[in-house]
Amino acid sequence: MSAPNNTYDPVEVAALAPDAVQRIQADALAAIAAAADLDQLKAVRIAHAGDRAPITLANAEIGALPPAARAEAGKRVGAARGAIRQALASRQAELEEERDRRVLVDEAVDVTLPWDRTAAGARHPVTTVGEHLADVFVDMGYEVAEGPEVEAEWYNFDALNFPPDHPARDQYDTIFVAGPDGAERSGVVLRTHTSPVQIRALLTRPLPLYVVSPGKCYRTDTLDATHSPVFNQIECLAVDEGLTMADLRGAIDAFVTAMFGAGLQTRLRPDYFPFTEPSADVSMQCHVCRGASTRPGGQPCRVCRSQGWIEIAGCGMVNPRVLVACGIDPERYSGFAFGLGIERSVMIRHGVADIRDTLEGDLRFSRAFGMEA
Ligand code: PHE
Repeated sequence: MSAPNNTYDPVEVAALAPDAVQRIQADALAAIAAAADLDQLKAVRIAHAGDRAPITLANAEIGALPPAARAEAGKRVGAARGAIRQALASRQAELEEERDRRVLVDEAVDVTLPWDRTAAGARHPVTTVGEHLADVFVDMGYEVAEGPEVEAEWYNFDALNFPPDHPARDQYDTIFVAGPDGAERSGVVLRTHTSPVQIRALLTRPLPLYVVSPGKCYRTDTLDATHSPVFNQIECLAVDEGLTMADLRGAIDAFVTAMFGAGLQTRLRPDYFPFTEPSADVSMQCHVCRGASTRPGGQPCRVCRSQGWIEIAGCGMVNPRVLVACGIDPERYSGFAFGLGIERSVMIRHGVADIRDTLEGDLRFSRAFGMEA
């Protein structure tokens, strides 16, 4: 602020000259009108109405005028400040309204858009059937046991009484995992069946032992209608005192009832697995012709190819050599085991002709089974 000025000096207070005040006001109003959005207007407010704005500085000069001149100058500066304030307020209102309108448009939700175009998912029948079967056994007191899909050869074969170079290993079309040094045989395989979980369970869990193990398995099979290099098995293992083949038969019948309904007979025929002795393959009466091998009209049953029976699983009494390998006394304990393919069971139960349908992840396939099994 300049010093009091008793002899009116128009030079010293040039900022208060009528045309100067008018120019300040005109500049301010032009800047306000030119502000394109609220941010710009904020900058204009600081520049033209803030503490360092020309009109504020001019106002501060009023005190420097001779008393006689103050009223008139004060009136003009006051009027200019009022005009600027009003212009700011109305531009502010205008820009706010514009912004609100834009937000309404930008953030509008089009409630007329179709909402049903996103396909709802469906759980895969191999998952739901696997879970259902595991649940059936859990209800009977079994525990779910899991093991790795990339498995040590020792668990997949050796501990299961497959001697090295025994032809039975070849039947498993094994995918060998190369070693870090590129060695073809690293001692690690993609498990060819869920039976290595038997060994893991026997080595880590207390006896008596009742476990059910669902999971993925791998073999070098080429993908076709009935083979897949990746498939799921479910395996049951029980080790207790005094278990016999009658208990095995009972567990298998419980499985068949859970999967295919009551009243279907099962049949065991001799087979060979190194880890069970004796071993058997399991068939059940065809769930369509119920063992008759023909349909009601007399035509052949296509589901079992008129056999009346369908092969569903491998089974047997746990080979005492396996028990010994796991440090269990075979004189005191005996056990049974059976294992089967989940995809195959789903295919049999639902008349799916091509295993590839279970692999392709086509929702139309999964949805046909409903959201849950
Ligand atoms: N693991 C065997 C297979 O994949 C099936 C099986 C399981 C047989 C348990 C006997 C007992 O062929």
